[in-house]
Amino acid sequence: MARIPDAFIDELLARTDIVALIGERIELKRAGREFHARCPFHDERTPSFTVSPTKQFYHCFGCAAHGTALKFLMEYERLEFLDAVEDLAQRAGLTVPRETHARHTQGFDDLYAVLAAAAKFYSNRLDLDPKALAYLKARDVDEPTRRAFALGYAPDAWDALKGELGGDERRLRLLDRVGLISRSDNGHVFDKFRDRLMFPIEDRRGRVIAFGGRVVVPGVEPKYLNSPETPLFHKGRELFGLHRARQAQSRLERLIVVEGYMDVVALVQSGITQAVATLGTAVTAEQVELLFRSVQDVYFCFDGDRAGRGAAWRAVENTLPRMRDGRQAHFLFLPEGDDPDSIVRGEGAAAFEARLREATPLSRVFFDELGRDINLETLEGRARLAERAKPFLERIPDGAFRDLMRERASELTGLRSKSAVPASDIQRASFAPVRRKAGGVTTSLVRKAIAMLVQQPSLALDVAPPYRFAILKQPGAGLLSELIQHVRAHPDLHTGQLLDHWDGRDEHPSLVKVASMQITATPETWSIEFLEALEKLDRQTLDQQINDLLAAQKERELTPEEGRSLWRALEERSNADLAGQRA
Ligand code: UTP
Ligand code: MN
Repeated sequence: MARIPDAFIDELLARTDIVALIGERIELKRAGREFHARCPFHDERTPSFTVSPTKQFYHCFGCAAHGTALKFLMEYERLEFLDAVEDLAQRAGLTVPRETHARHTQGFDDLYAVLAAAAKFYSNRLDLDPKALAYLKARDVDEPTRRAFALGYAPDAWDALKGELGGDERRLRLLDRVGLISRSDNGHVFDKFRDRLMFPIEDRRGRVIAFGGRVVVPGVEPKYLNSPETPLFHKGRELFGLHRARQAQSRLERLIVVEGYMDVVALVQSGITQAVATLGTAVTAEQVELLFRSVQDVYFCFDGDRAGRGAAWRAVENTLPRMRDGRQAHFLFLPEGDDPDSIVRGEGAAAFEARLREATPLSRVFFDELGRDINLETLEGRARLAERAKPFLERIPDGAFRDLMRERASELTGLRSKSAVPASDIQRASFAPVRRKAGGVTTSLVRKAIAMLVQQPSLALDVAPPYRFAILKQPGAGLLSELIQHVRAHPDLHTGQLLDHWDGRDEHPSLVKVASMQITATPETWSIEFLEALEKLDRQTLDQQINDLLAAQKERELTPEEGRSLWRALEERSNADLAGQRA
């Protein structure tokens, strides 16, 4: 992905008002300093979604969704990072830095334009072609559905599209780059799609990037011809119908993955609008990620025959590594000889829905397929299952689903899995309140200071270096000083940007948590409390230094430098104590 300078993202967020941005999309109610709403990312009756204008950050106490304006736009509008940046930039009247922008889209505008023109041409020709219209009628595709998919027809000629859009060398080159014309050995140029029903394939933003073309007379091979891979089209990364499905429903909750264009068309016409199709290949890892970035529930439909089971297993393999908590994959196996198109036409939408409700969960498909030829009555069989399952289970992301899958594996095999630390503990370890001898008090002081700082980054501006407490042997002390220094280097940061800066680091989940931690005392008194906390931490550091040096002195002779440090530290402490007594 093209890189956008951090400074630009900061600027962009600084110029965006998160309350306005979110308020344009969902209804926000003011509640004191913050705004509340029913969470757009999960179902709920009582509002637990909060937007903070001061923190420029949203957080849902129900489902833990959180982030900046940028993140909200990506999640809510289901945009890619770059697309969300561009939208925000447009809103803020900024231009995305030239270099990255150019690399992202330079030259592509012409390609999108020629594809859009081709789609229009094909669609106009469909209106004029009785044979293609008759084919659609025979397949029971009605007019609104045909328009919804912008279906078209490529005339039965070598130079229909070429004649329309390939006027000069430059235009021919464009047609060539998007895969709409072919060249024979002797250099002759001709239309690639001829006498075919045309299905435009759109990208996530609804731009036409390729076509699939179906023969309308039986017996011609291949039945479907697809655009080749082009700079805009990589079939393993796209899903037919995804943009339309997202548009059809404001809050998409599931996606149904089928194999054929006509399956999508038939399902949508029957009212099941969440259907998408792979493009003639098994489901790829990228497609699975794309699906789960849109919804939490994905249904994969397969034929019930052996080929279908093979394809289902490929989907299982590509889905397991993406099963973060909350996501669910379901598998629907259809009777042999049927596809979703034939089922929904034969049985109706309600019957298809009923089949979806009965779909097999990923976990069951996984263990069924893995143990298909294994006799679990024998020790040898169980050992084999354990051996086979292991590499797959290891690829599941940390979380409850992985723990449960491991548990299921031990049930089936009778083996206790040796997963030492549950995932959740590892996360908590980052700067969890480890209770040491000094008690929870000292640790929670660091935590509280971090919480205040994260929620009100400007606090850092009052505390000049040096930060003695940075070397305090307590979880989070180093992080605290790092946070302070970061904010001082970027004085305008608000909470969301600060959190984003830590995104990807181990401490990030903990930082997110403290960002919405309730802190007693009103924010107006925080600057005092914050300073006091740091002073206490400094004092603890002084104690630590003194104790360490005294302990070292018992073991060996101190170096002259250490000796001086010890004296200085002791002196400092007694001065501080005197000052404390006077105060
Ligand atoms: P199917 O043959 O199952 O498609 O192929 P379908 O949609 O059910 O076809 P009809 O129109 O009802 O007969 C499933 C998908 O595989 C790809 C296409 O993407 C198709 O939608 N395919 C199939 C090809 O790319 N080429 C082919 O020759 C056949
Ligand atoms: Mn079919």
